[in-house]
Order: sequence, then C-alpha cells, then structure tokens
Amino acid sequence: MRTVKLNNGVEIPILGYGVFLVDPKECERCVTDAIDTGYRLIDTAQAYYNEEGVGAAVKKSGIKREEFFLVTKVWITNSGEEKAAKSIDESLKKLQTDYIDLLLIHQPFGDYYGTYRAMEKAYKDGKVRAIGVSNFFPDRYVDLCNFVEIKPMINQMETHIFQQQKTLRKYMDKYNTQLMSWSPMARGENNFFKNEILKSIGEKYNKTVAQVALRFLIQEDVVVIPKSVHKERMKENFMLFDFELSLEDMDELRKQDKGESLFVNHYSPEFAEYIINY
Ligand SMILES: NC(=O)c1ccc[n+]([C@@H]2O[C@H](COP(=O)([O-])OP(=O)(O)OC[C@H]3O[C@@H](n4cnc5c(N)ncnc54)[C@H](OP(=O)(O)O)[C@@H]3O)[C@@H](O)[C@H]2O)c1
Repeated sequence: MRTVKLNNGVEIPILGYGVFLVDPKECERCVTDAIDTGYRLIDTAQAYYNEEGVGAAVKKSGIKREEFFLVTKVWITNSGEEKAAKSIDESLKKLQTDYIDLLLIHQPFGDYYGTYRAMEKAYKDGKVRAIGVSNFFPDRYVDLCNFVEIKPMINQMETHIFQQQKTLRKYMDKYNTQLMSWSPMARGENNFFKNEILKSIGEKYNKTVAQVALRFLIQEDVVVIPKSVHKERMKENFMLFDFELSLEDMDELRKQDKGESLFVNHYSPEFAEYIINY
C-alpha cells in the first residue's frame, strides 16, 4: 500500500476504510470484510458509536496490531482538557489497543483548544502516534496552527471532485498538514455514481465511477477512506493501483470543483446548533 509521510515522520496508508453510518451491530462484520479485502487503515469516531466493532474485528483478525492504522476522533461533548483525556482512554479501551495511530478533533466546537492540549499530552505519553483535526475550515485551521505547540498532522475534510478544498490546501501546505478526505465519493450526492464525466473517463481505463473518483484524489496526494457495507464495493474501491489517470483527465476532473460543500454550510449558526446538539 502506498503511504504518505506526515509532518512527524509517521506513514499513513493513502487508502483506508471509513465506518460513518455503519450500524454498531454490523460494524465488526463490515471491518472484518474490509480487513479481508486488504484495508489496514480504519477510520472511526467516538460519535459513530462503533469503535467497539472496529476493535473486535482488528483483534479477531489475528493480524499484528502494528500492521493497522487506527483513526478515531474526539466528539464535542468530550471537549476540554479533562474530558477529552478521559475520552481518549475510553476510545483506547473500546478499540482494544494501547495506542491510536491518528487522533483527530472531530469538529471545531466547544473547548477544542483544551481537547487539543489533551491530545498533545496523549501524543507525548505514547498513547497516540499522530494528532490532527477534522472540519477545520481555513480560518479555524490557521488560528489553531498559530497557537498550539504541535502542528496538526492531518485535517480531515469533505473532499471529492465537487469540493476539492483548493483554498484550504494552500494553507495546509504552508503549515505542513496532510489532507484526508471524508466522503470521497460525495456519499452518492449530486447523482455522483451517474456522473457522465467520471463515467466516460472510467470507460477509457475499464474502471468504475467510484474507482476514477478515488484515484483522482490519490493522484492529488489526498488520503481517502471510502465507506461501504458491501464487500463487493469494498473490493471495487480497493482496486486503485493498477491504473493511472492521464494529465488531461486529471485536468478535466479538477474543473468539476464547485468550491463548496454538498452537505452543510459550516459557517451557519443553524449548522453550529445542529452539530452541538448532535
Ligand atoms: N470527519 C468527518 O466529519 C466525517 C464526515 C463524514 C465521513 N467521514 C469519514 O469518511 C468516510 C467516508 O465518507 P462517507 O461514508 O460519508 O461517504 P463516501 O465514502 O463518499 O460514500 C459512501 C456511500 O457510497 C456508497 N458506495 C460506496 N462504494 C460504492 C461503490 N463502489 N459504488 C456505488 N456506491 C458505493 C455507500 O453505500 P453502501 O454502504 O450501501 O455500499 C454509501 O452510501 C466515513 O465512513 C467516515 O469514516 C468523516
């Protein structure tokens, strides 16, 4: 598996498996199928309520812990130094591990500076190999980078052909943070899987819409974590390393960027209230 080196030297697989909206009762089965397919990076979160399923599947796989790259995220209700520290220990327990490979702040709400300090401490204590953030839009991201001791290694953001995060990326390059995509296939929104441009490019390489969309991001050096509960789709989404999109096709796909979210406006007060009460 191709990896990307983070600003602290830790290597993260460029392709992983995400479990947002995977029913906690089904999570162990899904992650077992993903591991069987070849995925080793698994992306979960406290707010997905399925960390236990991830931990059980990893444990039961019999594969060495160091071959995995486990990602989880601290939720808003656990924000603040003390609560976050406690929640990190709970996540470790649920994941049945003594270290997390990458720990993120899920959303920039609540006392997230306190959360970040708890994460820096966990990092120094060896409970976490890399720390970072998620949904930190350019303003929040630049602010954080300027006032923390350890610069975030990752910012996990909505990123797909319709939202390529071009502005944010300029600043992430400046502060040396790696982009990780959530919803790399736009969760199927915007008629994603019937997109004519993705389809016609795919025909040239004998690849599907999903494969072209994911390969595009990988060629842009973005870490991707597609989600599916279906093993056949997990396999499809994993077959990305036997073709390469041409410069012309990459340019065509770059033009699809609309520069905004397909899901939410992170700057709106309605969204802030929704996510704080989630
Ligand atoms: N940090 C954050 O705030 C945040 C937010 C959202 C997501 N994430 C992370 O990012 C991961 C991926 O994002 P996502 O789950 O929102 O969206 P996604 O991976 O872009 O899309 C998932 C959707 O596409 C379908 N699908 C998957 N592969 C397919 C294929 N080959 N052909 C057709 N349909 C396919 C899935 O259905 P089936 O499952 O029925 O196959 C599901 O409905 C999440 O699981 C989570 O780990 C993080």
